[in-house]
Amino acid sequence: MGLVLPLFHLTFFLLSISFNYVGHRTHVFADEALIQLQCRNAEVPPTCIQCVESDPRSQLADKVAIAGIVISCISNSAKTISGNLSDLIAPWLEKEVKRRLRECVTEFSEARTDLAKAINMLKKKDYDETNSLVVKALHQEVECRQSLSQYNISYPYMEYYMTIYEQLSDAALRIVDRF
Ligand SMILES: *[C@@H]1O[C@H](CO)[C@@H](O)[C@H](O)[C@H]1NC(C)=O
Ligand SMILES: *[C@@H]1O[C@H](CO)[C@@H](O)[C@H](O)[C@H]1NC(C)=O
Repeated sequence: MGLVLPLFHLTFFLLSISFNYVGHRTHVFADEALIQLQCRNAEVPPTCIQCVESDPRSQLADKVAIAGIVISCISNSAKTISGNLSDLIAPWLEKEVKRRLRECVTEFSEARTDLAKAINMLKKKDYDETNSLVVKALHQEVECRQSLSQYNISYPYMEYYMTIYEQLSDAALRIVDRF
């Protein structure tokens, strides 16, 4: 039963992508307008915009480059979460708790490999494969989150970091879906 809810959620947001957006903005710098436009259909646009604007490459980015920046943000987020989880692993913990933490660290490392591949696929204009790798990396996070919550394993801001990861994944999928 564990994966049903997140998968439903994922399917829902993949199906609910909306195509009716207005592309007109005036008196705004081109890069700013393009970032706003690309992030507009994300479930949480501010998370997407903040990620893109924090990357200096965004100044010269076209929409494909913007998607690449969002995917790098997911990967950076995976790195932070994975680092935080490995910091939690201590010798005195229950064996099962340690096992779950190690499993999560591995899952986030696999997610980062998939996200690096996704950026390559984006460069090759294979957008279907890009999204399928982003979805795969998202599944890794969803599985880890559930496994930790079953064992009441948490650290400060963990929910927040993982939610950002999910919001960035949603943003990337929606941007690439409109290419
Ligand atoms: C998680 O990792 C980041 C980056 O290493 C660090 O800045 C942050 O303080 C860590 N958070 C927690 C709650 O350990
Ligand atoms: C997690 O917490 C809940 C509620 O506090 C408790 O019922 C459950 O037994 C805990 N699970 C584990 C694996 O410790």
